[in-house]
Amino acid sequence: PKVAVLMGGPSAEREVSLSSGRECAAALRGEGFEVVELDAGPDLYARLQEIKPDVVFNALHGRWGEDGCVQGMLEWLGLPYTHSGVLASALAMDKQRSKEAFRAAGLPVADSVIVEKHLVEESHVLDPPYVVKPNSEGSSVGIYIVHEAANGPPKLEPHMPAEVMVETYVPGRELTTTVVGDKPVSVTEIFVDGWYDYEAKYAPGGSRHEIPANIPQDIFDLCLDYALRAHQVLGCRGASRTDFRWDEARGAAGLYLLETNTQPGMTPTSLVPEQAGELGMTFGQLCAWMVEDASC
Ligand code: DAL
Ligand code: MG
Repeated sequence: PKVAVLMGGPSAEREVSLSSGRECAAALRGEGFEVVELDAGPDLYARLQEIKPDVVFNALHGRWGEDGCVQGMLEWLGLPYTHSGVLASALAMDKQRSKEAFRAAGLPVADSVIVEKHLVEESHVLDPPYVVKPNSEGSSVGIYIVHEAANGPPKLEPHMPAEVMVETYVPGRELTTTVVGDKPVSVTEIFVDGWYDYEAKYAPGGSRHEIPANIPQDIFDLCLDYALRAHQVLGCRGASRTDFRWDEARGAAGLYLLETNTQPGMTPTSLVPEQAGELGMTFGQLCAWMVEDASC
């Protein structure tokens, strides 16, 4: 079958997506697929009509590629595509609304509010420590952590959206779980100097991953359970990755779900490819499985 791998695009995560896309394209060629690589621009609809792929492999991240927009276009074209559909993508990309869905399902999430940017800059919206982030971005783009009241409210960069999320800071260890199909795979613990920002995520050696995580069995099992439930509550398809923070001093009550990613990174430093290894799958086999699982 002919597979079109969508990558790049105009989002803030363009470079991450180019890396994910190239890795997936190479892996799919290794599995015997005919692969066309497409940098997603305004001519995408026309290009897909020309190329007529059997399946679209979506390796886009961030706005337009992860938020239901490209998924809607692929539905319109009647082309089967990998990962989540329109609704799950749109819901997961909206951090505040996905939290509301998680909370309604009994999943533990940190308190947060959506606030106009200028108010965030004028005074502390929450008691520090708190986090300010765009409601709809990935890869830690545009995240501010306010540790102490004495430091004053943050000055946000001009490119931040007009409304931002302000969230209670959850201290603790950084954990993540991938769901493949309807199976939560394992728990990875991420070790970083400082915090898990863009640099730590993508620079070689920027972080160290331990899989399976060396944490108590009950916390491990809760991560698997929460990740699967989050995947189901949002209505995800294919693979997703759910990120957690665990404050070990508080036991199971200290485990919080941060977010679910419907287009998890597939770069050489990303977490999902490592977890696939726990399923006995190579990276190529994971990509091939995604193609087989594609639908519209
Ligand atoms: N947003 C990045 C790609 C991730 O979640 O892996
Ligand atoms: Mg994310």
